[in-house]
Amino acid sequence: MMNMYTQISDIKTINLPKFEDIRGNLSFIEEEKHIPFKIERTYWIYDVPGGQVRGGHAFKNQQELIVALSGSFDVVVDDGKVKQTFSLNRSYYGLYIPAGLWRQMQNFSTNSLAMVLSSTHYAENDYIHDYSEFLKFKNA
Ligand code: TYD
Repeated sequence: MMNMYTQISDIKTINLPKFEDIRGNLSFIEEEKHIPFKIERTYWIYDVPGGQVRGGHAFKNQQELIVALSGSFDVVVDDGKVKQTFSLNRSYYGLYIPAGLWRQMQNFSTNSLAMVLSSTHYAENDYIHDYSEFLKFKNA
């Protein structure tokens, strides 16, 4: 129920641990420590042709952390009133998006790799694909 009240201000940019080393850098994520949820699923988006847009939808329950493991892309998030664009281009920070926000991913650079850590298994019935339905959900 409370997911309908989430706002842009509930989004957080999370700085991840980074071990700099002459052999190469290392970062990591531990569930419920660096991110406020348990990870039930990980997926990634890659080989995105120039100009393509992914993920124009909202989730009713799923929380997520999005990390640009490689390259760069923008995440546009909308809470039904305010819209904000976050640019991701480093593998040592992520964007935490709580449930109940409309988001899409765009402006993928060549060879970009978007990793998404999700708090739920895949569930089609958690998606809101229709923007007017999303606004009804937010105003219910
Ligand atoms: P979808 O989330 O709709 O991608 P986008 O919003 O970026 O277009 O997922 C695309 C397809 O992949 C969809 O048919 C469902 C399937 N899918 C899974 O089976 N499991 C998953 O974890 C995800 C994210 C998608």
